[in-house]
Parts: sequence; C-alpha cells; structure tokens
Amino acid sequence: MCGIVGYLSHEEKPVVSIYQGLKKLEYRGYDSWGIVYLKNKRLVAIKEIGKLKSEPTNLPESVLALGHTRWATHGGITKANSHPQFDCTGNIALVHNGIIENYYLLKKELTQRKHKIVSDTDTELVAHLIEEKVEKGMTIEEAVRQVFRRLKGYNALVVMDKMQKRLLAVKTGSPLILGLSKKANYIASDINALGEAEELIILLDGELAEISENGVRVINVSDGREIPKQRIKMVEIEKESEMGEYQSFLEKEINEQPQVLERIVQEDGVQIKKIITLAKKMDKVILVGCGTSYFAGLVATEKLIKKLGKWVITVLASEFDTYVNLLDEKTLIIVLTQSGETIDVLDAIIKAKQKGATITSVVNAPYSSVQRVSDVCQMLSCGMEKCVASTKSFVAQMAVFDIALGIDLNQRIKNIKWILKNKNKINPLAKMISQKQHLFILGRGKMLPIALEGALKIKELSYIHAEGMAGGELKHGTLALIDKDSICIVLVSKENTNEMLASGLEVKARGATVIGIAQRKENVFDEFLPIRGKEDDEQTEAVVWLQLLAEKICDLKRLDPDKPRNLAKSVTVK
Ligand code: AGP
Repeated sequence: MCGIVGYLSHEEKPVVSIYQGLKKLEYRGYDSWGIVYLKNKRLVAIKEIGKLKSEPTNLPESVLALGHTRWATHGGITKANSHPQFDCTGNIALVHNGIIENYYLLKKELTQRKHKIVSDTDTELVAHLIEEKVEKGMTIEEAVRQVFRRLKGYNALVVMDKMQKRLLAVKTGSPLILGLSKKANYIASDINALGEAEELIILLDGELAEISENGVRVINVSDGREIPKQRIKMVEIEKESEMGEYQSFLEKEINEQPQVLERIVQEDGVQIKKIITLAKKMDKVILVGCGTSYFAGLVATEKLIKKLGKWVITVLASEFDTYVNLLDEKTLIIVLTQSGETIDVLDAIIKAKQKGATITSVVNAPYSSVQRVSDVCQMLSCGMEKCVASTKSFVAQMAVFDIALGIDLNQRIKNIKWILKNKNKINPLAKMISQKQHLFILGRGKMLPIALEGALKIKELSYIHAEGMAGGELKHGTLALIDKDSICIVLVSKENTNEMLASGLEVKARGATVIGIAQRKENVFDEFLPIRGKEDDEQTEAVVWLQLLAEKICDLKRLDPDKPRNLAKSVTVK
C-alpha cells in the first residue's frame, strides 16, 4: 500500500531520480511522500504532504538515496508521519510498507526507555529498536535481522545506514525487488521503478538483502545464512506504462481494451486451459479475489458451473476463513488479482496451501508475489494498469476464461471499438447522474457481477453512492429508496430480458428515471445504450459503457481519474 524506491551508486547521481521513481509508484499510495539522501556525511530528508505534484529543483547528487510514497495506515497524513522515519541519533533512516501489529507493546517499551518518538507511526519504532541494538555493539545487519523477527504482521522495510553507506531491505508479505546494474544497485516495490537496472533479484519473505559498496547479498532472516539468489534479466519495461497522448491512465486503459483483447486472442490462454483441466479433476473449485477481481470471479463462476457441471464458488479473499476448514488436496483455488500483491489474497493462499489445495491464479503484474506462489499462473499481459480503478484488467480477466471455454472474441473486439467510437452517447447521462448522490445499477444472472462492478467504478471515480444489486432483490427492501429523483441503470441480457424489464417497470412505477443498457430500446427506458453482441459478449459491452460513464462523471466533477481519494492500487495491508 506504499511505494518504496532507493539506490546505492558507485558515483554520485541525481537524487531527483528517486522522485521520478516515486512517480511511477504513486499508484500504491499518495497521501504524502519523502526522500532521504546522504550529503556531506549527513542524512538529509525532504517530506511533503499530498501527491507528487512538481519535481523538486533543489535536490543534489548523492551516492545513497531512498524514497517513499505513503498510504496512511498508522498515524494521520502529516509531515511528521511521512517517511523516512529516523532513530534518535539521525544515523538510521527507514521506510516501511505494512502494519506492525504489535505496535503498542513496542511503543510502550521504547517510551519507558526514554526514546524521543516524534511521530504517530509504527514505522518510527523500528528505527529506535535498531538504534538500541547498534548501540549495544551489534552490526546494523544483525540489528535489522533481530528487530524484524520481533515485528508481527506483513511488513517490508528498507533501512539506510549512514555510517557504512548501505541499504538493508527485509520483507514479509509486501513486495520488494532488487535491481542490479554496473553503476548502481536499486531496491523498489515493483519493477516499474527499477528503470535503469539490468538484472532483477526478487526478495522473498524471510529474506534480508544488503546493498553495499561490495554489491548485493541476501541472507536468511531466521539464521543469518547467505542465500544464493537467481538473477533475472530485466525485461524491457513496457513503454505502455507512460500516459502517451491520453489525459489520464483511466482514459488510456479504457481505450486500450480492444488491443488487450487482441493480445489475449493471440496468446490463446495456454495456462488458463491447464487451470480448467485441473478444475475438471477436483472436487471443489474456489475462485478468490477482492473488489473488481472478485466480480471477475463471479463472471467466471457462472461460466465454469455451466462448463464443468460441478460446484464452483467465488469467495471474497477477506472472507476466506469461513471456508478454510473445508479445503483439502481435492480443492482447486483460482486466484484473480491484477497486482498479484493484494494481501487478503496472499493470506488466503497461505491458508489454502496449508490445507493441501492446489493454487492457480490469473495475474497481470509480472514477478508479483501471487504469480510466484502459484502452481499454475495465467498472465493477463494487458500491460501495466496504473489507474487505481481497474478497467482493462477486468475485461482481460473475463476474456481469458472465455478463451479457455472456446468463446470467440473477434466480434467483441469490434463492438468495443464501436462503443469507444460512440462514447459521446453517455454524455447527457453522465451529466444527469453527476448531480445525484445515489445511483442504482440493476442486473440479473450474468449481469449481476457487471452491475456490481459498474457500481464500484462509479463509487471510486465519482464518489457517488452507487449500489449494484440483483434486480430480483429490489422488492425485498431497496425499492423503499426509489422515488422520482432516483436514477436506475438496468442491465438487460438476452437470457433475462423479461425479468429485467419487470425490474425496470418496478422502479419506473415509483417515478425513477430508467437508463437501459440492452440489445434494443424498450418502452420502459428513458435513456438507452446499445449492446450489439452475442450473449457471450454482453457483459463486456455493458461494463465498457459503465466505465465510460464513470470516467465522464469523474471529469464533470473535476476529480482525479487515476488517484481517487483514500484509495491505492495495490492493497498490501490488511
Ligand atoms: C478496482 O477498481 C479497485 N481498484 C479494487 O477493487 C481492486 O480491484 C482490488 O483492490 C483488487 O486488486 P487486485 O486485482 O490487484 O488484487
């Protein structure tokens, strides 16, 4: 949930490169940011509240620098709580991603030992704990190792040691990747910030990396033994991660969807087909995800039940504990996750593995934690998705399952292109909705997940309270909310046209404005967006209309399309 990037260079290099690295990680959290660097044998820090707005002009060159962009968990959004955090001496600085669950006990200990604690963060306590061990004569590497073993929860830490000009990195849960090159060595939360590195080392849970003037070495946190690590050639970082001629990553990623589908057709889903073959042999098939990925799981579940003729369920990763005791060697887990780092998903995987389940996944981010722990992993390869609101990854998640089930996507691609070309059709609807506090999106059967996903897009991007729900549920309570000021979007697929039109009539009878997304304009619709494809394509077409609607409302309300308030792209804290 935070972004970390640092370097140790053989010769002085512009510290502003850390700011540029943080810009590439800002999607991981953007409440505040900070950089610490070594200058004239002193650690110098700058900290700012809010997003990385303009590149600092006064940053010098340095051989050692470390930066952090924060999504606040422990302690409010203040300069004092921004990272880096320091010990009492100012010789140790560190940045952190995660939540230290035994924070109160550690804080009590340190307060009793008269440490000067200047922030409300859990992170700062670690700097003081390391300071104590170094003062007792321990090397900083040993100090970091011992302190880290005391921390409860999922945490990634990078410590800067002024005296020996070193960076020490250690993690459990949250991602850290090392980047190696002749001139400098790097550490970062994801490969996108390791631009100049030529080789990668993936730091695994329970490993501690030391970046020093002698190079990079990795040791085991539990016993201090050195671990030989595989070096991976750095893939060409996709130029796609730049915005190009678009106004936002949201706009870019919505418009890239036809190309994403074309790539999925070409790659022909080799790994997802293996996953489906595995599913046929298993007693239980459980899809797991959060947010948009969970909704993609719901879409896939309906198709898998039809194809496999067996029990298949989709479970929210944060609610996985309910099912753990039912898992065994005959269980197949299919994880859906764009980032591959969502902590609730990683938590579920750990519990499922302990029960002997087979772990498979559909992931977008290469080298991500979920990809590494999966027995089989289908990459979405839809390119970096940097907008916090997921769009192309959702369409890709649906498509990879369709490819595995033998569904042709070519007409879908053409129809998405048509929708993108005719996106101005949503303008009057967006204007109408932008003035509302509430919105209802109704779907049934395969359109229910789309109603849920569309509502999430509207919430994330416009801050309007949008409720996605089953059309059949209206009369069980929600209808009480419908009046003449209500707007209801009704998603109609060929399979349940009559039922959904009945839902439209129910809300219309209470005075609501009805927007239909359907194969044809119906009398009950006040407004209408056309779906033109065959049944297998209706979900994708409907969700693209909803994505465009959310984008337009966001624009009308002058909100940030890529970094909505309070959110981050990768939820790596519980
Ligand atoms: C979707 O627009 C949100 N950004 C969020 O719900 C997201 O889908 C969820 O956090 C899961 O992320 P993941 O796919 O990277 O696991």
